[in-house]
Amino acid sequence: MVTRTATVDDLDAIMALERTSFPTDAWSPAMMREELASPHGWYVVVEETGRLVGYAGLRAVRGARDADIQTIAIAEAARGRGRGRALLTALLEEAVRREVHDVFLEVRADNPTAQELYLSEGFAEVGRRPRYYQPDDVDAIVMRLDLRGWSARRAEAADGAAPRAAESDRSHGIGSEASTDPRPVHSSESVTSSASGKGWC
Ligand SMILES: CC(C)(COP(=O)(O)OP(=O)(O)OC[C@H]1O[C@@H](n2cnc3c(N)ncnc32)[C@H](O)[C@@H]1OP(=O)(O)O)[C@@H](O)C(=O)NCCC(=O)NCCS
Repeated sequence: MVTRTATVDDLDAIMALERTSFPTDAWSPAMMREELASPHGWYVVVEETGRLVGYAGLRAVRGARDADIQTIAIAEAARGRGRGRALLTALLEEAVRREVHDVFLEVRADNPTAQELYLSEGFAEVGRRPRYYQPDDVDAIVMRLDLRGWSARRAEAADGAAPRAAESDRSHGIGSEASTDPRPVHSSESVTSSASGKGWC
């Protein structure tokens, strides 16, 4: 398995996965190309035997305190083996490098799998956008992560579980050391911020 930064050359493979992962609300190739080319974006892909099996994107405008998880998708056959968490971790590590404080995302109210992933990393619901996803008429749950808290929990978890980290299949975040599953505590603080950018996940 190889995890690497995406480029515009990955557009066709990403779009193939995009269409199967989001059959009713896939982005157009033009929108995806713009995402991949944007200096404010950062996309990663994961490949197995030379085939792209996942991608994920962050939008973090240089100097801004907020960032957005734009998307994340793993090919159906490759799910349930830590790839999704590894890509999300890679995005959050990049957000840390860009000195972001808060990371936002929107997730479909009818997507408990993705919600579980985000909750387990410490994202907390901060609002709802009624009927955000069209044409399906599904609400968006807006979630926020306190990134500095996330980093602190990771550092703590790494201190406490360093020997196991090297064996983990979840240690392939880009630019990261071998990492542990951070298992953070869910945030319970009250938040009034709203998401910025064109969240879509
Ligand atoms: C959401 C998605 C990216 C997760 O990718 P994945 O590689 O299967 O996820 P992982 O194996 O890394 O699992 C991470 C966590 O997700 C959650 N999860 C994964 N599969 C799950 C399932 N079938 N049921 C409930 N939760 C699940 C769990 O919290 C899991 O942690 P755990 O394994 O420690 O219990 C993948 O299901 C996907 O691509 N779905 C279609 C596209 C999509 O919905 N994208 C999200 C848009 S917001």
